[in-house]
Parts: sequence; C-alpha cells; structure tokens
Amino acid sequence: MPTLRDIIGKIDIVDVISSYIELKRVGNNYVARCPFHPDDTPSFYVSPSKGIFKCFGCGVGGDAVKFISLYEGLDYWEAIESLAKRYNLPIKLERKEKDSELLLALERVADFYHQELKKSQHFINYLRDRGLSSKTISKFFLGFAGNTDGLLKMLREEGLIQAYERSGNLTKVEDGIYRDLFRNRIVIPIKDVSGRVVAFGGRSLDGSNPKYVNSPESQVFKKRSTLFGLHEAKEYIKEADEVVLVEGYFDLMSLWQEGIRNCVAPLGTAFTEEHAITLSRFTKRVLLLYDGDNAGRKAVRSSVPYLLKAGLSVRVVYLPEGEDPDSFVRKDPKALRDLMDKAQDIQEELLQKVKEGNKEAFENLLYFCSFITDGVKRFEILKELSKETGLSISSLQDKLLKVEPKTKEEHYQLNYHEAVLLAGLYKFGFEGVDVDNLKLSLHALKLLEALRREEYHLIPNYIKNMKLMDLKSSFEESLKVLSLPQLEDSRDFQSLRQKIKEQPRKLRIRR
Ligand code: GTP
Ligand code: MN
Repeated sequence: MPTLRDIIGKIDIVDVISSYIELKRVGNNYVARCPFHPDDTPSFYVSPSKGIFKCFGCGVGGDAVKFISLYEGLDYWEAIESLAKRYNLPIKLERKEKDSELLLALERVADFYHQELKKSQHFINYLRDRGLSSKTISKFFLGFAGNTDGLLKMLREEGLIQAYERSGNLTKVEDGIYRDLFRNRIVIPIKDVSGRVVAFGGRSLDGSNPKYVNSPESQVFKKRSTLFGLHEAKEYIKEADEVVLVEGYFDLMSLWQEGIRNCVAPLGTAFTEEHAITLSRFTKRVLLLYDGDNAGRKAVRSSVPYLLKAGLSVRVVYLPEGEDPDSFVRKDPKALRDLMDKAQDIQEELLQKVKEGNKEAFENLLYFCSFITDGVKRFEILKELSKETGLSISSLQDKLLKVEPKTKEEHYQLNYHEAVLLAGLYKFGFEGVDVDNLKLSLHALKLLEALRREEYHLIPNYIKNMKLMDLKSSFEESLKVLSLPQLEDSRDFQSLRQKIKEQPRKLRIRR
C-alpha cells in the first residue's frame, strides 16, 4: 500500500496547475502570472522535478495539493479528495473523516520534522556518532523538533492545526500559543502496521528528563497494540518466520542497519497480550533480545506468558552484562548472530537447567507452563519435569497457575499510594522494604503477592508502565504513608485502633 506521500509524489504538478492557469516553459521549469496576487511580471514558478510551485512575488508555495486547496478554497484533505477523484488514485477515502485529518496532520508533521533534521547538522552528527547511516535515518524518517513556529505555520497553512491537536502532541497554552511536546528532541515516527504515522517518540539530547517522551494515546494510536518497526519488518518477519523482540528504538534501528530486519519493539511500555496476538499473525516464533541486566531478565519473565498464550514459541538471547542490542551489534555483529543462532527454545533450555539442578529454572518453567495452550505440549513438559524431580505429574499439575480469563483492570481501584508502591516494587524490587507492615486494600495485597512471586502477568499495565518524574522518591513517600505506625508498646494499641478507625474504609483492610 503506497503512502499518501508516494501518491502525491507521483502526481504531475504541471498537469494539475496547467488545468487552472496557463504555464510557459522556461528551461526545466514553468512560469506564469501568479493567480494569488496581482502579478504583471510572471513571478510564479513550477518545478516538475521537485513537484512544487513557488511565487517569488507573494511567497506562496507548496505541492499540487496545496495549489488546489488555495485555488479552490478547499482544506488540505478536500484537495486530496478532489485530486484522488481526478486521477483515480488508490487513496482510501472511506475512513472516518476525523481520523483521516489527524493521520494527514501526523504525516505532514513527520515530514516537517524530517526536513528540519536534514537542516541541522548538529543532530545529524549525533545520529551519525551513534552509528546510524543517512540511509537508516531516511528509512525511519527520523526528525528534529526545533522549530515550533515553522511547524505551526505549516499546520495553519494547511488547515490542520485543530486536527493535529487531537494527537495530543501539541497543546494550546493560550490563544494562538502552542507547546510542542517534542520540542528540542530527536523525533522518531511510529507507524501502524500499514505504514501510517500514528505517533512519535522523542529523545532528549541534552540529558534532560525524561529521556523519551512518547505521544499520548489518541483516536489513531493505542500503545498496547502498537509495535515500533512492525511496518518495516513485517515482510522480513514472514520471510524468516521469526520475529525478534527488542526494547528500544535505537536497538531496532542499529539491528536493521546491520541487516537484522525482522525486529519490533514495544513503545517503552511493558509487552502486552495484544502485542503478542498482533505478532502471532505474522509468525509463530519469537526471539527475545533484551538487555543483559536484571531489567532484561524481568522483561523475559513478564513477556513470555503472553507469547506462549498466543501460541508462539520463544527463544531467548542473553546478552553479556551491560550490553544492549544496539551496543552489542555495533561492537561485534558476528558474535550477536552466533548468540541468536544458538539460542534454544525456552522450555528446552529451562528443562536443561532443571536437569542441572537449577531451582529457579524449575520455578520458571512451571510458571511458563501454565500459559501453554497446547495441552499435549504442556503434558510433555510436565512428564519431563516429573522424571527429573521425582514429583508426580498430578502434583505438578496442581502447582500450575490457574490462568484466569482476563480480569477487567477497572474493576479494582487502587488508591494513589498503593499504585505508586506497587510500581516501585516492580521497578526496584523488595530488597530492604518492609512490606509486611503496610496497610493495604485486599486487591493491593494480592498484587503485592503476585509481584513477590514474579507473576507479572497479573500486574496491571499502568503499574508496570508508571512513569513518574521521580518514581524513587514518590515510592519512598508512599511507603511511608502506607506504613503502619510502629508499636513501641502495647499500650499504644488503643490509640492505633482509633487512628485506623478514622481512616477511610479502603485503607483498613489488613492481612
Ligand atoms: P538510547 O538510550 O538512546 O540508546 O535509547 P534506547 O531506545 O536504547 O532506550 P532504552 O534502552 O533506555 O529504553 C528502551 C525503550 O524504553 C526506549 O526505546 C523507549 O521506548 C522507552 N523509554 C526509555 N526511557 C524512557 C522514558 O524516560 N520515558 C518513556 N516514556 N519511555 C522510555
Ligand atoms: Mn540504547
């Protein structure tokens, strides 16, 4: 499916404009009297090779769509419709108009950012220093958001400013004053599976926090089902019959450049069930390529259940400590390919470790086993486990989790401090935290226990993805708020009881 840009690029601008005004050929270009201002010397130029027009008298300029929209007084989208009709172009026009306008705006903004990047050598250098070639930069259409005024001007001229506001990327501060969410960041367009820009990720370059800002959800952008790179990778995924899952934008782009192209990355959020289902449409095999640290290990534990549940088989590559796919592929692409080739099916690998007497592997395998939907396969593994451990198959079966049908997260409301506490425990672990002395709602307690058992599939996404400015200090504060007062002496018990009574009901449930 060609993009809108491809299609517009194919239109012969001379053909379009000459159907409205008379053009005269001068060398490679065409000139005319400008139709947009009183012009007695021809100052209106059309460049067929660039596909644009420009008036040196009044300054208007743009592509064929822009010309029609100005000449006929249409908005940008209506102009495209009229062009599409005239040239019989394969543009899907039946999409809801609101979506189309928003998508069009996103596409135009991506284009704008990309052109801006090309002008800023400093940022090109940054990307070059990170090993990205200009080919890769173009492939992923990277951009830079330095010129908010220019962006607003473009959006105003094309009548897209209101549509673009719906993306959440631009916020109105007051009348006529807007703030660009990505200002001063390198911008990475995020496409849906058919290649339409639906969001952006923006990386700060001056060390300011947060390192990444992503577009908020919108009519056209749902984080939990979008995967960065899927549009570019999908043919490679089918060809390799395997998808490689990485965590970061730069991991993916570096791998791409190295020729490892069947990769996707979630958008800085935990991998979801929807992601797994989306991937299963393209292949039944996935290779996890996460950072070689504790966070990477945790990511494996939390994504594998969804992958198995969606019927995918999983292999895991363990990178050397301190390396991520980006750093490693640039250092030693051959070593990375070797690791990828050698990676075993996760169940086989864990079984092997169980045979070597590894207790953690036993726990992990049993946990993952709960999510295997293929009963025969599950039974095979239990049989092996039984042989290794001497436990009966039925007792192992009893240990399997009951994988419950999805519970609606909205059913249970955590209060703010509970949510922050759980997010902190997820991120930083339990070490040094006295969790036995907290006042928590029953639901929060259940989640805390799930975290302790590392059953991350039970943890709501908003907890796993909580991005507070300073999660560490918020976590400590919430821990303090939720901690029961220490009883120095049993006489304090009366006053404690009184205190607890005064608290809202929700906080009173204790283990
Ligand atoms: P570099 O640090 O430039 O190499 O980027 P990276 O893409 O490798 O990032 P990293 O490995 O630190 O993080 C992996 C992914 O998590 C990123 O690609 C982002 O999608 C996401 N991410 C990282 N930091 C943040 C953050 O501060 N906020 C948000 N929303 N997402 C983040
Ligand atoms: Mn990185």
